[in-house]
Amino acid sequence: MTARFIAFEGGEGSGKSTQAELLAKALGAVLTREPGGTEIGMRIRGVLLDPATRALDARAEALLMAADRAQHVAGVVRPSLAAGRHVVTDRFAASSIAYQGYGRGLPIEEVRSLSEWATGGLWPDLTILLDVPHDMAVARLVRGLDRFEREDGAFHARVLGGFRAMAAADPDHWVVLDGTCSVDAIAARVRGAVRERLQLPV
Ligand code: TYD
Repeated sequence: MTARFIAFEGGEGSGKSTQAELLAKALGAVLTREPGGTEIGMRIRGVLLDPATRALDARAEALLMAADRAQHVAGVVRPSLAAGRHVVTDRFAASSIAYQGYGRGLPIEEVRSLSEWATGGLWPDLTILLDVPHDMAVARLVRGLDRFEREDGAFHARVLGGFRAMAAADPDHWVVLDGTCSVDAIAARVRGAVRERLQLPV
């Protein structure tokens, strides 16, 4: 059986992390995330999310995300796939296109090429978008807000619009699920999508 690479995407508080964990458990897959899926990535993540990081240039932000991704792919994703393990990641390249591209306004194609270069051309077999309107998601955020969560509603609306546009443009590689349902209902739909799209017994 070919090892598969599955990404979860969505805005803040969309419940991705919970669903990524449940799917990884059900598949016996390696569970990982961005930014911060490696030791070096954890240090990059610290810089990126800390509200004390002020006036970070959008291109510098995109490059740090790409650096985290390069390390993640080289150190975790490719070795796991090569060893025959499925990989489930909480965020991947589409987050850069949505946040740094649609959110910050960097040219979409340039952000995409940057990820293409960082990963050596590795893209997920399937990306699952958990679609939750931002105002509903905000209510779920309880901890102290990080640098991205402090952005305004217009920023988050552009991010969500970006995710929806990517999913609509590439339906073979994306599934959009209503993220406002219960955890169990979403988990069942996630497994259904993985069974149907990737023919995995889950
Ligand atoms: P995290 O705490 O993992 O947020 P979440 O639980 O919402 O996934 O923080 C990751 C933040 O980094 C999130 O706000 C999205 C942002 N991000 C980007 O802006 N670009 C990227 O390429 C990635 C991977 C994440």
